[in-house]
Amino acid sequence: MSVVAIIGGQWGDEGKGRVVDLLAQHAHMVIRYSGGNNAGHTVINDRGTFKLHLVPAGIFNPETTNIIGTGVVVDPAALLEELAMLAEAGVTFDNLYISDRAHVIMPYHREQDRIQESLRGDGRIGTTGRGVGPAYGDKMERIGIRMGDLLHADTLHQHLARALDAKNTWLQAYGGKAQPLQALHQQFVDYGHQLRAYIKPTHPLVQQALSRGQDVLLEGAQASLLDVDWGTYPYVTSSAPGAAGACQGAGIGPRQVSHVLGVFKAYTTRIGGGPFPTELTDETGNLLRERGHEYGTTTGRPRRCGWFDAVAARYVVELNGIDYMVWTKLDILDTLPTIRICTSYKLRGETIHYVPSSIAELSQVEPIYEDLPGWQTPTDALRTFDDLPPNAKRYLQRLEELTGVPTAIISVGPARQSSIERVPVAELFA
Ligand code: GDP
Ligand code: IMO
Ligand code: MG
Repeated sequence: MSVVAIIGGQWGDEGKGRVVDLLAQHAHMVIRYSGGNNAGHTVINDRGTFKLHLVPAGIFNPETTNIIGTGVVVDPAALLEELAMLAEAGVTFDNLYISDRAHVIMPYHREQDRIQESLRGDGRIGTTGRGVGPAYGDKMERIGIRMGDLLHADTLHQHLARALDAKNTWLQAYGGKAQPLQALHQQFVDYGHQLRAYIKPTHPLVQQALSRGQDVLLEGAQASLLDVDWGTYPYVTSSAPGAAGACQGAGIGPRQVSHVLGVFKAYTTRIGGGPFPTELTDETGNLLRERGHEYGTTTGRPRRCGWFDAVAARYVVELNGIDYMVWTKLDILDTLPTIRICTSYKLRGETIHYVPSSIAELSQVEPIYEDLPGWQTPTDALRTFDDLPPNAKRYLQRLEELTGVPTAIISVGPARQSSIERVPVAELFA
């Protein structure tokens, strides 16, 4: 039996969806454990091209049970839209379950997200506007609505009345519109009817899988540098996207996790505001954006692009206990004559090897680079490590040295088959 966690190692969009799709062929269960439809996970396989926001990327394998876990916040309208998209493509989802403990994103959360961003002015976070932060806020405030509530009209009415007391006062104070209890109640009872077959206590399902010795994948959303505790606060998301959050959100103990795979792009991207030491605002940054199609899967916003940051990567390895690396988008670097890796930062004239907690300091650091020769030859058709050009091998070996973690998988294209398995996937579950 193995439990393998797939964690975003940078600021999101590392290619977690494509990695989960690849590994899910060997897994009995995939659990999305945190975040909401702020996530956008692209999967390209023999069934087509899909952008998933809530449904786990194991859904394409009918043998795999897919769980939207307790740590996720669910917008039922967005979920129903995603299920309709899958149905249209002929993908079945009888193998999907939603934790009855997962919290619900309500329309007033989206409104709150919008108002809060406009109040932040120049300091806006650049949220995805999906209401994710406010939904997590209400969960902590203990006025949240849970998916299980949608199945009980009376309980929902009671919980919604309590939440709206607080929410409508807030919305009106900031020029938003009060939301009507009865209409909202009716709408969410209706969502409950439509999702009834999927909303379940998921704890017994997960425990059964573990006790039968089945292989379980934990699908991360967002990434460690967006972690509410460890990321570039306040330019972060409102959850714990890392390995500890995986245990919490999926409902399994840390000793049950066999491997933690960190997914990293071979360079770095970030979407939204916040410090980004290795950001490139020049031609190379544009080249990475265009070659890498670096536009948000959820919002379509252009992603900021830069060199690989080994200081931040080491920090993320430590935070999560990452024991295998997955490198994605190596092919995007194929045309570059020189590739830079940030190996330390300079802060007020001093060399440092850590990520400062203060964003004022992180915004000031100057990256110290090591330059490596590029390979200037296409890698997208290659399927073995041995076939990679010598300079690509050298680059990957240097990344391994700097992060101190061996490589499991290298991806050289967006489709499932564009993968180089340094460690056979079956072995990751052994
Ligand atoms: P996620 O949020 O971590 O699942 O990543 P996204 O799907 O938001 O963004 C990753 C983008 O890179 C998607 O458009 C993928 O299709 C694409 N992608 C993933 N791996 C590779 C790769 O190795 N090469 C190329 N060219 N594209 C990739
Ligand atoms: P996946 O799973 C990249 C970023 C937003 C913003 C900040 C807070 O596809 O990697 P939020 O809406 O969560 O309150 O926004 O976090 N963000 C992501 N960036 N990939 C994601 O998910 C993200 N989810 C949130 O852009 O900066
Ligand atoms: Mg994404």
